Amino acid sequence: MKHIYLIGFMGSGKSTVAKRLGEKLNMGYLDIDKAVEKSRNKKITSIFKDEGEKAFRSYETTSLKTNGNTPIISTGGGIVEKEENIKWMKDTGIIIYLQTSFKVIKKRLQKDISRPLWREDEENKDLYKRRTAIYERCADYIIDCDTSSLEEIIDEIIKIYRYKGKTEGEK
Ligand code: S3P
Repeated sequence: MKHIYLIGFMGSGKSTVAKRLGEKLNMGYLDIDKAVEKSRNKKITSIFKDEGEKAFRSYETTSLKTNGNTPIISTGGGIVEKEENIKWMKDTGIIIYLQTSFKVIKKRLQKDISRPLWREDEENKDLYKRRTAIYERCADYIIDCDTSSLEEIIDEIIKIYRYKGKTEGEK
């Protein structure tokens, strides 16, 4: 069975979608950010503050690669910063990009202080633009989340999974 990897910018709803998808498919799900926090016994903000982004990225890669058999994986927005992570996801699963416009994300993250890389408007816009190109390049499927409800997003992912989720041996 392949993993389902949910990718997308901060605030695109990856964790919410993973949880609901897990409930609906009766399958386990894992949030990489939460796995990192658990493994370090620290909040992400503290990891960034005390140890820096580079250390966080290395913990993130370790959590990605040690998720065992958990089928549904919600990633952090920066998982695509390392080619190594992209290759891992490509080799072990289906990558689904939850595409959400900057406008919607900005509204959702207006008062957010839990994301160290959500900064000033210009910086956020630049990061969004740069990341979008990478998400589009590595995604197997893109779901337009601005125009779909949570249930519509889930149904679309389930369709993809039923069609593409089996490994060669399971077909
Ligand atoms: C990050 C996104 C965050 C978290 C960390 C870095 C990023 O996850 O991994 O703050 O680089 O975009 P979410 O996408 O769940 O907010």
